[in-house]
Amino acid sequence: MSQRVPAEIEKVLVSEQEIQAKIQELAQAIDRDYAGKEILLVGVLKGAVMVMADLARALETPVSMEFMAVSSYGSSTSSSGVVRILKDLDRDLADQHVLVVEDIIDSGLTLNWLLRNMRSRGPASVEVCALLRKPEAAKVEVPVKYVGFDMPDEFVVGYGLDYGERYRDLPFVGLLKPEVYAR
Ligand code: IMP
Ligand code: MG
Repeated sequence: MSQRVPAEIEKVLVSEQEIQAKIQELAQAIDRDYAGKEILLVGVLKGAVMVMADLARALETPVSMEFMAVSSYGSSTSSSGVVRILKDLDRDLADQHVLVVEDIIDSGLTLNWLLRNMRSRGPASVEVCALLRKPEAAKVEVPVKYVGFDMPDEFVVGYGLDYGERYRDLPFVGLLKPEVYAR
């Protein structure tokens, strides 16, 4: 079920097969850790939708899914860590085992704010699962229990990640050609 690589893509960084294999691996680790429990997966729109959909289906542990939409103050390319909730969760988190599902951790500022926000709602536990992480871009240390791939500090698209709302639908993660940014 492989999609053709669009002409705007310079290089595929993580292939569809690598992503899918990693999701299975992460799901197995999560299933082991949460044996006998239920998980409330919390995804941040819109980037996390692909990881959410694939991870939820790979897990054997019973899950429910919630989504939040946030906007981070600051420029479009760098986050400030000050976050505004655009869409909140539809239920309270008291006594829930929350697993925050993320596409990518860049500066970590958004996630840092989100974790403090989640913990203030009285859950039984809060952990994070992120498909990608850019260790060199970290401005705050965020404890992430489940990480798919550590990657260089480069801007990528695909598998939920966008540039100007495009390319989220690609089944792989890749680099855009420089001329795409010059448009
Ligand atoms: P942070 O607060 O800097 O960690 O920002 C994380 C958010 O920025 C992610 O959830 C993405 O929506 C976005 N982001 C960070 N790096 C990239 C990238 O390489 N491509 C697309 N979006 C990104
Ligand atoms: Mg974005």
